Amino acid sequence: MSSNDSIDRRQFLGKSSLIAAAAVGGAREASAQLNNSAAVNLKPVRLGFIGVGIRGTLLMEAAAGIAGVEIKAAADCYKGHLDAARELINPAPEVTGDYKAILSRPDVDAVVIATPDHWHLQMTQEALAAGKHVYIEKPMTHRWEDGEAFISAVERSGKVLQVGSQYMSMGAAQKAADFIKGGRLGQVTLVEGRFHRNSATGAWYYPIPPDASPTTVDFKSFLGSAAPRDFDLRRFFQWRLFWDYSGGLPTDLFVHIVTATHQLMGVSEPESVFSFGDIYHWKNYREVPDQMTSMVKYPEGFVLRLSSTASNGHPGPLLTVYGSEGTLEYTGSSFKYYYEPRTEAFGYSTHSWPKATTARFKELMNLTDNLTPLDGPVASEPVEYKSSDEDSTRAHVRNWIDAIRTGGKPIEDVRFGHHAALVGHMCNLSYKSGKPVRWNKATRKVEA
Ligand SMILES: NC(=O)c1ccc[n+]([C@@H]2O[C@H](COP(=O)([O-])OP(=O)(O)OC[C@H]3O[C@@H](n4cnc5c(N)ncnc54)[C@H](O)[C@@H]3O)[C@@H](O)[C@H]2O)c1
Repeated sequence: MSSNDSIDRRQFLGKSSLIAAAAVGGAREASAQLNNSAAVNLKPVRLGFIGVGIRGTLLMEAAAGIAGVEIKAAADCYKGHLDAARELINPAPEVTGDYKAILSRPDVDAVVIATPDHWHLQMTQEALAAGKHVYIEKPMTHRWEDGEAFISAVERSGKVLQVGSQYMSMGAAQKAADFIKGGRLGQVTLVEGRFHRNSATGAWYYPIPPDASPTTVDFKSFLGSAAPRDFDLRRFFQWRLFWDYSGGLPTDLFVHIVTATHQLMGVSEPESVFSFGDIYHWKNYREVPDQMTSMVKYPEGFVLRLSSTASNGHPGPLLTVYGSEGTLEYTGSSFKYYYEPRTEAFGYSTHSWPKATTARFKELMNLTDNLTPLDGPVASEPVEYKSSDEDSTRAHVRNWIDAIRTGGKPIEDVRFGHHAALVGHMCNLSYKSGKPVRWNKATRKVEA
């Protein structure tokens, strides 16, 4: 195994240890305070975590800060992640290398699953069948065909399943959706979404911990039902680079944009998708493209253009929503709306007319000297909305915990999660075939 040449190792380690140190203090404090507090007067919700890598750790920290939540146990295939879970959470959860041991614990009411995508369906089915509520990370599915199996597993179980796209719970999400629904943008025909990065980590060449070896990594359990492979730490720690475990940019990053678009536009299912992608910049042993652009057509009458590159990180809003009467730039925690008065400027087309004809036209149409309507709409200042800063991951986990306590519906249910991931899978199918693909709403199947 050779390390990735593009990472400045010293710089990377320096930064990441600082961030880790800050996170450790925060989570310890939060969990010790809230879980031991006599003031907590809520029915406890006892959690087990399956997969406590990058995302699972953040989710544990978020859950530790929610009143009445107890973190009982964690499962993972890398010893270092289990050790870190015990360092981070107070009281320390019990840890295991076998996720089934979490599912059979009577003191676990609900599980958070943050494993690589190829495990999502099987673990969710087993957890629901064991009577646990489930928080399943995005993308919910690894193949579009798995969507219906998820739906029937949830319906059979009667348990609460939340799909983990925290963009749904971002501070400006509901306000922006209401703004668009209120008609301020006029007719929306185009939405553009972007998710760009420019670093080795952004391109998913995550560093491999120095203690990783067959003693500390259970590679066979990581593979699960995926194709058999020899022990390979790249596949284990950088699984997003390989099709067996990941859908690449569309299911990993586009899914956030698609989720936000479905939420803001109030739509759920696409009509057809066309994609271009390639491996342009990060060519080291990756299978999935490092750049992708896709167009998604919706039956409601608009197109979503998605793009992601791993070799440019120029900042921009997550979404730009273009309507006949205005434009909305949306980041998740804020939005900015620009009113666009529809003015006619007749000077452009009348420039080729004789002066007398133009003068007569001006008189007939009641125009200004600039040949614009005298009673045209007046431009206004942009409208800006900024939400307060609750961490969206914590808000999203809290929404799930509240739904478990009240028997209510979570904000991102199984159908929503299926349709958001479906668009990503269609992007990949189109990229691979070089042709558009269609979603047949009646048969609920993707057609080439
Ligand atoms: N919502 C978000 O913003 C967000 C961000 C990052 C990742 N994610 C999602 O979270 C999931 C995990 O991603 P990650 O970045 O944390 O990856 P990761 O590789 O850092 O962590 C995955 C963990 O799952 C463990 N695992 C694998 N197979 C297992 C098994 N059979 N039993 C128990 N544990 C097992 C691995 O040991 C690893 O620690 C992915 O589905 C990803 O798309 C979501």
